[in-house]
Amino acid sequence: PVLVVDFGAQYAQLIARRVREANVYSEVVSHRASVEELLAKHPAAIILSGGPSSVYEDGAPALDRAILDAGVPVFGMCYGFQAMAQALGGTVARTGLSEFGNTPAHVSDTDSTLFKGQPGDQSVWMSHGDSVTAAPAGMRVTASSAGAEVAAIEDDERRLYGVQWHPEVVHSTFGQRVLENFLRNGAGIAPTWTAANVVDSLVDEVRAQVGADRVLCALSGGVDSSVAAALVQRAVGDQLTCVFVDHGLLRSGEAEQVEKDFVAATGVDLVVVDARERFLTALAGLTDPEEKRKTIGREFIRVFEQAARDVVSDRGDDEHPVKWLVQGTLYPDVVESGGGEGTANIKSHHNVGGLPDDLQFGLVEPLRSLFKDEVRQVGLELGVPEAIVWRQPFPGPGLGIRIIGEVTAERLEVLRAADRIAREELTAAGLDREIWQCPVVLLADIRSVGVQGDGRTYGHPVVLRPVSSEDAMTADWTRLPYDVLARISTRITNEVREVNRVVLDVTSKPPGTIEWE
Ligand code: XMP
Repeated sequence: PVLVVDFGAQYAQLIARRVREANVYSEVVSHRASVEELLAKHPAAIILSGGPSSVYEDGAPALDRAILDAGVPVFGMCYGFQAMAQALGGTVARTGLSEFGNTPAHVSDTDSTLFKGQPGDQSVWMSHGDSVTAAPAGMRVTASSAGAEVAAIEDDERRLYGVQWHPEVVHSTFGQRVLENFLRNGAGIAPTWTAANVVDSLVDEVRAQVGADRVLCALSGGVDSSVAAALVQRAVGDQLTCVFVDHGLLRSGEAEQVEKDFVAATGVDLVVVDARERFLTALAGLTDPEEKRKTIGREFIRVFEQAARDVVSDRGDDEHPVKWLVQGTLYPDVVESGGGEGTANIKSHHNVGGLPDDLQFGLVEPLRSLFKDEVRQVGLELGVPEAIVWRQPFPGPGLGIRIIGEVTAERLEVLRAADRIAREELTAAGLDREIWQCPVVLLADIRSVGVQGDGRTYGHPVVLRPVSSEDAMTADWTRLPYDVLARISTRITNEVREVNRVVLDVTSKPPGTIEWE
């Protein structure tokens, strides 16, 4: 792998993604890892990330010079660049010439390893208070900016490179080219990390892990569990059984997508548990959001537990017991929970947490090395239907937390119809990948007066909640085009009899959450 040494900024994961976009496998490692630990992974190259500190501050994360002497190609960025320059005998100082944001840089050698094929004047994303004031002996300076005389250094002999800026950020206009030049020309790494190769190697890993045992997977209809299931199915075929709990809180067409399209595309052995009545009964009379969430979570676990027991006794036998449970854990979860090999804790996600002790499963986490965009590519490679691969986030408790008030079968029908129209129009306008998600919320206990045809109406409002976000931790409301909003509003009020008003939620997060409950 290419190892990205994380010096404690937000950038390490982004760098790893960019390396993978260049079709090279990469992993994030802590700056606390020893040189021996790094070398034990047989890195094809090492990238030193940016970081929040100043290299000469007390407690600044140190760079062990041995990394630079190991014969492995190294690329330092921002803090990593300065740490590298200092370790090699250069000088880093506070010059008073800090640079933040888009900055013009001048490349003095457009034929160098890093800059071959690029223009001499580039816009780069800077974020530094300190600067390298003297390059280490033997290193060529190949770029500069107003605030950083030494903005790029290269040494083809030792294969050591660095830039003061952040090439991983999109604002650095040639950032990806600089990174690719390092990987291909500096480090000589072939671009073999492709969806097809990833599928092949993950399939091998799953086969090696599972052997002849049987495997269970809870399918939610979301991207991660679907792709994980499709991958395990590709690896061990009928040894896998998926359980899909239809709690009746999905949107229009989603249960069918799982029951028909997904099965047709992957050939997976699927057990569908129709629990719609059970969930409606459990939710009857409940209006408090937390009570609704807890109830849905509790019922889900009970239904899934029973289904898991059934699968264990129906599909398993003494020679081939059901021993494994598939989890759709992704790489960011792994990095954030401390990285490391071995078995991660089961996510405290409501639909798989808390399995009973007598069902002892090992975890199969085939996506634990992948980022979300890679999961989608792998899904496409496996033939998972596009409607599932590109599905926007949808909460586990589903429409149950988008009906404000009691959840009933009739209200679910109303919300499903309104939500389907909104989704159709957003898709038709080509906005699906621009928005993060667009909950439609039914204010079931509120009525307002309207007029339609000759008659007075007394119906319910629905709220459109279109949001833009990177990670759902923060979000802004999406400025949807007025004509799209108008079409959604007209169609919903015409086609859904119970709804006579469509309103737009213009609250960012914080202070609002994305979901209303
Ligand atoms: P909030 O409403 O907290 O939502 O701003 C942030 C993101 O999480 C999704 N969400 C959930 N996802 N189970 C899930 O799997 C849940 O219980 C749940 N609640 C909220 C929400 O759709 C948004 O993307």
